[in-house]
Amino acid sequence: MLSGEDNEVLTRTGPGTPMGELFRRFWIPALLAEELPGPDCPPVRVTLLNEKLVAFRDTQGRIGLIERYCKHRGADLFFGRNEEEGLRCVYHGWKFDVEGRCVDIPNAKVPQAFKDKCASRSYSTLERGGMIWAYMGPRELMPELPAYEFLQVPESHYYVSKFQVGGNYFQSLEGEADSGHVTFLHRYLGADTVAAGSTGGAPHVGRVGVVHWEVEETEYGLMMAAQRDLGDGRAQWRANLLLMPHTVPIATPRGVTMTCHIRVPIDDESSWLYRPRWHPARPLSERELSEFRHGGEDYPELIPGTYIPKENRSNDYLINRAAQRRFSFTGIRSLPAQDMAVQTDQNGIIADRSGENLVSADKAIVLMRHKLLKAARDLQKGIEPPETRRPQSYNVRAMDIVVPIEADWKGEMLSAMDPEKPWVSPAS
Ligand code: FES
Ligand SMILES: [Fe+2]
Repeated sequence: MLSGEDNEVLTRTGPGTPMGELFRRFWIPALLAEELPGPDCPPVRVTLLNEKLVAFRDTQGRIGLIERYCKHRGADLFFGRNEEEGLRCVYHGWKFDVEGRCVDIPNAKVPQAFKDKCASRSYSTLERGGMIWAYMGPRELMPELPAYEFLQVPESHYYVSKFQVGGNYFQSLEGEADSGHVTFLHRYLGADTVAAGSTGGAPHVGRVGVVHWEVEETEYGLMMAAQRDLGDGRAQWRANLLLMPHTVPIATPRGVTMTCHIRVPIDDESSWLYRPRWHPARPLSERELSEFRHGGEDYPELIPGTYIPKENRSNDYLINRAAQRRFSFTGIRSLPAQDMAVQTDQNGIIADRSGENLVSADKAIVLMRHKLLKAARDLQKGIEPPETRRPQSYNVRAMDIVVPIEADWKGEMLSAMDPEKPWVSPAS
């Protein structure tokens, strides 16, 4: 359970809010590079941390991320003409460059000082790993881009996509610290299990859903390790990481293609999931790329021309009750849509956490809340988030390992997380 005040702090990311200011100390993905495919291409509306912006690539290929509304009388610059080193408003022709400078006011004779006064707010950008990253904080505090492993692999080993997720961003982020839900929400029932709704118990809901948590503060944020007793003298440890403030590499067994989830607030009621995928040791296969592009169990199919999943709130995520009865715990096809079905509205599009009844399985969620609340409140007191000065610490792997139950799991885990280790499965 969380007080109303804490809930407000965690969930609001507009300018001037504590969490909004925390986000503005870090580089965050603003859009995919493919959305601005070349010089003078059409501009794109971007809403980020509740700010309405427009992105464009000028004649030289430089990227602009500026206020969406024209400084003259507020027309939407999405309709603008992207021409000759700037974006020109189609209402009365005022023009802005990638730095937000007002470079032309063709409908009046005005002194330069007036043009200077009409500059649009603009944000710094970087293009890396198929994403355009934005920094929306004070320029003098701009950090380096973190040394994510996925930014360092060859292009052939890497793919990134995004899709829109409903509900406040923090509900989605909590799902990343909720290892136990995988056993239920994302489960497919075997032929020998009892169908939902029948009598005779529910063998598909077993003790394997119970996890024991070890959560540690780290240089980059949190290591959230969930242990499951496999019942044969061994334990599985899955450690998702929180790379402050919103990036979660997903625990992966050695040798398998890796995944990272970056949860980016659009406004307080929706977010983007940016999803880098990479294999440190080999190019991604045609089969993998086909699923990443066209949808599959792990990827929602998108409405053509958009980044919005076809399975969405308006159609109850296309739930198939026959499939739910026979083999799928939810009856919802893709894993991300399964998450969205339960996370978009958790007693509110911005979840109301005042009536929760938390159990030990929710420990990592509680600690993640504390971590972010403390960082946001520290910043209000003038204490900058230390992670922005540790870009190298972000080069770390989230691992899924199996060790003897009595083993030093932490030593094994820390050693497995080293990005210098060869990325081959122990069996190969
Ligand atoms: S509103 Fe843009 S030029 Fe007038
Ligand atoms: Fe999930």
